[in-house]
Amino acid sequence: MRPQVVAHRGASATEAEHTLGAYLAALDEGAEGLECDVRLTADGHLVCVHDRSLRRTGSSAGLVSTSDLADLAELDFATWKRPWADLDDEAEEPDEDMGRVLTLRKLLETVADYDRRVEVAIETKHPTRYGGLVERRLVDLLRNFGWHRAGAPVRVMSFSFTALQRVERHAPEMQLVQLVERASYWPMLRRAVGREWTMGPGIKLVREHPEIVERMARHRDVHVWTVNNEEDLQRCLDLGVKAVITDRPGHLVDLLDRRERDDQ
Ligand code: G3P
Ligand code: CA
Repeated sequence: MRPQVVAHRGASATEAEHTLGAYLAALDEGAEGLECDVRLTADGHLVCVHDRSLRRTGSSAGLVSTSDLADLAELDFATWKRPWADLDDEAEEPDEDMGRVLTLRKLLETVADYDRRVEVAIETKHPTRYGGLVERRLVDLLRNFGWHRAGAPVRVMSFSFTALQRVERHAPEMQLVQLVERASYWPMLRRAVGREWTMGPGIKLVREHPEIVERMARHRDVHVWTVNNEEDLQRCLDLGVKAVITDRPGHLVDLLDRRERDDQ
């Protein structure tokens, strides 16, 4: 079966990650899902930012967790991706609104308004000073959309088993994805994770220990990150992976379309 193509932080190979511009580009390229990392601001808003620090993507010395949303709204989250644009006369003028901090609410509204079904894979980042408040706020927000129930176009992912247990307590019907970075975590996780949970190994684990991923796939759905080329896509297809999370959604959609055409 064809795996779902999920844009990792948006079309992040070409656009500045986690910006509205990156997500709209991913949708234009045919992504069926959008992945985002979420963190809480000091005044309690969930924003789509990967790092704890603002240095890499916000060109600022602060932290997400000690900034208010209004502080983050002043920052430019796009320029770091095109550092030479100022020197390039032929570079397109950027749309500043597309490069501002993106709240999870805005991303969900975008998906809700889109003219086809799009799924959102939301990753809560830990450790964080706000601990379980992140999952509480996340479920509250999803409840506003009526998306805390089975069949909702969202799922929650985390490397933290405890975080996913919290989501399960607050929203028992939510689809959960246990991210797994190392093969050595599997023996413990396989006993602990819920029977309905999806497993989310990284591509390194898939390359180095396909036998473990094959075991994961026997009883559960498997979603793999980050799958950016044909060789890795083939590894995932061989294992029956249900979703591939990629920085290059257009490329993966094209590869899968071409394979379907060749099979006809
Ligand atoms: O989709 C899961 C993947 O995003 C986990 O790693 O560091 O990119 O958040 P990271
Ligand atoms: Ca992530």
